[in-house]
Amino acid sequence: MKRRQVLGALGLSALGATSLGGLALRIQRGQTGELVHSRAPLPRPFQVPLPIPAVARPVRTDATTDFYEIVQREADQEILPGVRTRVLAYDGTFPGPTLVTRSGRQAVVTHRNDLHVPVAVHLHGGHTPADSDGYPTDLIEPGGRRDYTYPMRQRAATLWYHDHRMDFTGSQVYRGLAGFHLVTGDEQDGLGLPSGERDVPLMITDRSFGEDGSFSYPANHHGAGVDDAHMEGVLGDVVLVNGAPWPVLEVAAARYRLRLLNASNARRYRLVLNPARTPLVQIASDGGLLEKPIEHSAVLLAPGERCEVVVDFGALSPGTEITLRNGLGSGRTADVMRFRVTGRGSDDSRIPPQLSRIEPLSADRAVRTRTWTFRRAATGEHPGWLLDGRAFDPDRIDADVRLGEIEVWRFRSDLHHPVHVHLNPFQVLSRRGEGPGPLDKGWKDTVDLAPSESVDVAVRFTDYPGRYLLHCHNLEHEDMAMMTAFRTT
Ligand code: C2O
Ligand code: CU
Ligand code: CU
Repeated sequence: MKRRQVLGALGLSALGATSLGGLALRIQRGQTGELVHSRAPLPRPFQVPLPIPAVARPVRTDATTDFYEIVQREADQEILPGVRTRVLAYDGTFPGPTLVTRSGRQAVVTHRNDLHVPVAVHLHGGHTPADSDGYPTDLIEPGGRRDYTYPMRQRAATLWYHDHRMDFTGSQVYRGLAGFHLVTGDEQDGLGLPSGERDVPLMITDRSFGEDGSFSYPANHHGAGVDDAHMEGVLGDVVLVNGAPWPVLEVAAARYRLRLLNASNARRYRLVLNPARTPLVQIASDGGLLEKPIEHSAVLLAPGERCEVVVDFGALSPGTEITLRNGLGSGRTADVMRFRVTGRGSDDSRIPPQLSRIEPLSADRAVRTRTWTFRRAATGEHPGWLLDGRAFDPDRIDADVRLGEIEVWRFRSDLHHPVHVHLNPFQVLSRRGEGPGPLDKGWKDTVDLAPSESVDVAVRFTDYPGRYLLHCHNLEHEDMAMMTAFRTT
């Protein structure tokens, strides 16, 4: 397509066209991003086993709190078979150790920074007091440490923690600073969902590798952020699940709970099973259980989003292979991972027809509507991404919100923008003036905006006064200033 046709197809106005900062607009199928090609030879798919990140053990516990310690350090990790990749990682592993904590029971995680760069740790999906939320300028300097307090007054859900350093989130997450944090709870325990080995966290990321096996992140050599050629978003040509390229998981002929997380910097996925012998039954989204399970043939996942599905391999005979494919990928990025059925297994799990109850945040109870516009524009000399026409300034507060009040937030986009809100989850009310999409159910903290889309959500912040963030979770957009601070009082 010629550029004008691309713009036309996206419904962009002349305003969109003039705000491109002099760069040609390159949209891959379903993506806002720019591919980095690997120079290292790439392995054949489906050769390596799926790694499961180790579960962190508390260093001590008392009557109210579990205490954890994580050391952030560099390490060499074998990601491509036979090749060493230098990672920046929590406890030296990418993904980091999985934290498993309980709803209602406080956790304190002490992070020690043994890296050569400052860091900030954010618990994505956490209902967290402001001084533990990983504000981009609340840094742990090299050699320093910091305690993050998580009261965990929130529903059981699949959360994740990752770096949030001002201007460097994209490069530092890319290099390995991401891990799971699973919140468990009584409500989920009683349901009979697949558990233990059959409850599998899957962190999906895309990366590219240099000749020597190093990650090829196109950082801006003038300083912070990404280089101009990749400011749309960095796409890799290798799909990693839990840090392994196109891995294989051997499964019993039984139900599995898959906790899907898109931890990629910019890539969106449309996940399907191939052959489609069994559906993806969604049981939870970002903020925990849905009210009722929903069957999907495909799950669209934008950066930052989680979707939990139950897949029933029970009717498949040993030897059957099912590939998790990405309908938005092409060539190598069209594959994600593979499941290989190895044998029969007894299975007393179930998917109850009623999973949970969710209080609807109805628009009638909202005290106001705020509109937030996510749009590309030049910031000074350089192309960048603005939120409401402004570049992020960590010292500026752009909105004051009262705790306990319901508000409607209307997000408007020019291109793809996965919009993320800190502190509390929200509910999607409408998309383009119509009802929520099939994957918009339940409590969300990240919502995928397509080009020229408008999405209304209902938010209600609770408990903690302070300074929090709203931003695009395309990490290149975030670093290139598509972020804003609001204050709760
Ligand atoms: Cu997952 Cu503010 O980020
Ligand atoms: Cu977050
Ligand atoms: Cu964006």
